Amino acid sequence: MKLKVNSPNVRYTDEHIEADYVYRTTSIDHMDDLVVATPKQTNYQFRTKTAVPKLGVMLVGWGGNNGSTVTAAVLANKHKMSYMTRNGEIKANYFGSITQASTVSMGFDCDGNEVYIPMKDLLPMVNPDDIVFDGWDISSANLAEAMKRAQVLDIELQNQLSPYMEKMKPRPSIYYPDFIAANQSDRADNVINGTKRDHVNKIREDIREFKAESGVDKVIVLWTANTERFSEIKPGLNDTAENLLQAIENDEAEISPSTIFAVACSLEGVTYINGSPQNTFVPGAIELAEQKKVFISGDDFKSGQTKLKSVLVDFLVSAGIKPTSIVSYNHLGNNDGKNLSAPQTFRYNFIIQTVFRVHASFQICNLYWVILKFSLLMQIKRNIKIECS
Ligand SMILES: NC(=O)c1ccc[n+]([C@@H]2O[C@H](COP(=O)([O-])OP(=O)(O)OC[C@H]3O[C@@H](n4cnc5c(N)ncnc54)[C@H](O)[C@@H]3O)[C@@H](O)[C@H]2O)c1
Repeated sequence: MKLKVNSPNVRYTDEHIEADYVYRTTSIDHMDDLVVATPKQTNYQFRTKTAVPKLGVMLVGWGGNNGSTVTAAVLANKHKMSYMTRNGEIKANYFGSITQASTVSMGFDCDGNEVYIPMKDLLPMVNPDDIVFDGWDISSANLAEAMKRAQVLDIELQNQLSPYMEKMKPRPSIYYPDFIAANQSDRADNVINGTKRDHVNKIREDIREFKAESGVDKVIVLWTANTERFSEIKPGLNDTAENLLQAIENDEAEISPSTIFAVACSLEGVTYINGSPQNTFVPGAIELAEQKKVFISGDDFKSGQTKLKSVLVDFLVSAGIKPTSIVSYNHLGNNDGKNLSAPQTFRYNFIIQTVFRVHASFQICNLYWVILKFSLLMQIKRNIKIECS
């Protein structure tokens, strides 16, 4: 199915679809006991290429539960796999993916019938089956071993996927033990040596090498590694792009692995998406991305229980009920839970969850939805509890 918008605000050329969009908001000023609300509007022009690129996705934390499961899910769909469970045969599908499995209401036709189209047909969009995966992990396990370690997929499916996934090996990554739980050290056997400047250069080299070897037109880097502790924001250290680059030159301890990845991506002109609740995007990293006109986004994935939690809290708050605590736990005790059991990483996940999630200040990232929403299987591995006053 295809959609054509018949509006003076939307133009179709051979190469692009261009749309004018007016974003209306209100700015608020406080003056003593007076609150002044001023309507504001910003005019945007969105341009979408009609040609869909061959897309490469490089996952930081490729050998984790998310990384191995999303790679497995795409391969299972691409190779049209099916497997038996005690409830019968299951064929690979993208159920749970908002782009691949949901529809959007377009309005009513002249007979009064509501017309829906698949979300994936709204705009030219990459078919997830065509994504080429690569990535980094501090653990050297190949993706078949990583899938087994994750204990997410049925064994019959794992057996079909293993021949494809054992050839996939994560590139060595950046490991600063201070930023994640000490209990992760036993898997850190695949790390890059050298200084922070060497690390930025190595990540840039890896991106270029992957692009050349795979022949992809475009690369997106996605952080799906463990949640880090927060980095301190210090004037002169990471508050501007210039200071951040200098801090990397000086091998400053307070620059986190995820910020190094973000900087490398900005310098390489590659989109970077953050899937964990840490402050990767320190002011200097944001300024650098702006200077290089690179898209950066994200402060956590909103899949499974994480999304459900946000929706439930929104529902409770709008019903006038104030949640006093949100508790979720990994009842299968995976590696993410192990990392978060350490005080420094738990504390920051806790702050982020209570501050950012309750106020629902999050961005929805298209790529994230494409590749992670269908990892529905992960939804069963966690549980959730919300207490209200
Ligand atoms: N699983 C979910 O449903 C979900 C939802 C929202 C957010 N998240 C976040 O996504 C992240 C990944 O979750 P998961 O369940 O896959 O965890 P996981 O622990 O199974 O995987 C994380 C992987 O990152 C690797 N790693 C750690 N530091 C690294 C570094 N510096 N460079 C490269 N690799 C590194 C680890 O070796 C591990 O393989 C976590 O931060 C989690 O909080 C997960």
